[in-house]
Amino acid sequence: PILSANERKVLKAIYRAGDGVLERELRVEGLDEREIASAVSYLERKGIVSTERVTETRYQLGPEGLRYLSEGLPERRAIEFISSRGSATLQDLFSELGEQEARIALAQLARLGIRPVGGRISAPEAERAREEVERSEEALRRLASSGYTGDLPVGLQRREGVVQRKQTSTRRIKALVRDLSLVEGAEGIGELTHEAIVSGSWRERGFSPYDLHTEVSVGWHGGRHPLSEMIDEVREIFLEMGFQEMKGHYIESALWNMDALFIPQDHPAREMQDTFYIQASQDIGIEHPEIVDVVKRVHERGWGRYVGWRYRWSVGEARKLLLRTHTTVTTIRYLYENPEPPLAIFSVERVFRHESVDWKHLAELHQIEGAVHSRESSLSTLKWLMRYFYSRLGFREIRLVPSYYPYTEPSMDVIVKVNGREVELGGSGVFRPEVTRPLGIREPVIAWGLGLERLAMLYYGLDDIRKIYQSDLSWLMTYRVKK
Ligand code: PHE
Repeated sequence: PILSANERKVLKAIYRAGDGVLERELRVEGLDEREIASAVSYLERKGIVSTERVTETRYQLGPEGLRYLSEGLPERRAIEFISSRGSATLQDLFSELGEQEARIALAQLARLGIRPVGGRISAPEAERAREEVERSEEALRRLASSGYTGDLPVGLQRREGVVQRKQTSTRRIKALVRDLSLVEGAEGIGELTHEAIVSGSWRERGFSPYDLHTEVSVGWHGGRHPLSEMIDEVREIFLEMGFQEMKGHYIESALWNMDALFIPQDHPAREMQDTFYIQASQDIGIEHPEIVDVVKRVHERGWGRYVGWRYRWSVGEARKLLLRTHTTVTTIRYLYENPEPPLAIFSVERVFRHESVDWKHLAELHQIEGAVHSRESSLSTLKWLMRYFYSRLGFREIRLVPSYYPYTEPSMDVIVKVNGREVELGGSGVFRPEVTRPLGIREPVIAWGLGLERLAMLYYGLDDIRKIYQSDLSWLMTYRVKK
């Protein structure tokens, strides 16, 4: 067998320690626990050692245990007190030990069969518990100085604050092959470093051979959540294209979330069933109240040759606070605040909808939002962008179908085809002049808002969107990108 430098070191330590050494006892210079564990696993795979899982129960002092270590157990102090004065009433014990400790002492003495008779405990009675209580204190001291592994005396059992129980697991290691030539002799270079190249020392030492045929079992480790990975992947795609990232906020006024986007005030999406409204304890005020008049005018009477919705617009309705239902609210305000074209912007952020949750709907989800404000923005640019974006994630087949949003014209929904299945991922379109012109946005704006979780479902091959937010380790430990 071919051993790596780490495996040689660990094997040497195993030989030195003798058979049956526990993995947690192995000390190898320069290697941490994880590296030792990995080397042991490799040695086992190569048939040089065998291991056996052992679980150990270990104890450790709790906060009260630490205090009792210096003050003595309350029951022990009670015994001393009672013996010194011949007997003691409950009141005596309360004033000597304090109420809390006295209660503990009495409960512990009761466990050992010692109870007050006629309201008092006599010295000979109390002395009957001495031996057992001293045994407990002795165990407490041993616990503090060394890892105590025996059984706990009854007096310390079920006292969480005094002694805490810990189950640990390690491996018992046995050498199957005892061959010193495996660990001795000159060692080749395991890792080629800059210094070795510069100094040329690699010429003399040569390389240690590497065994590519050893199978290793999968090790579990912590990691980033797959959805976070995906968010970064999406951000990367837009950042590479030169888009600027926007950050918005969860609570918005209806004015920005809806009215500025020319969504009429009787639109079904505004209903309580679809939107989470917020009751604020104080008037937060609205951002950029200067747009109120112009928004009112567009809704009521239109703009230029556009006729508007023709109803009485209510500022009260616009002042309502809500959890943003889409990130297009961030886009429109960003454009208002930065009206100079050309501008390419995006965000990947959370939105809220009063939805009943099922296998493909969530009430909280992320939208991949974006817009391009430029003289060159057109429906064909938009189509190209959508195709390009999805193809970067591995989705080559997408379909754009006519759709409707009050703020875009034309509007298109984006549908992705995966394994013959079509999934609707979001909307897009060209902002209507009723949205852009009154806010001083001069050139055409193309925009989109796409669901992230639905995409993640396809990306990771999940059959239920809710799985993304469940701490279901079975998929989190084994997920693979399916696309
Ligand atoms: N805001 C729309 C939604 O939430 C998506 C969209 C964004 C549509 C931009 C057109 C333009 O579904």
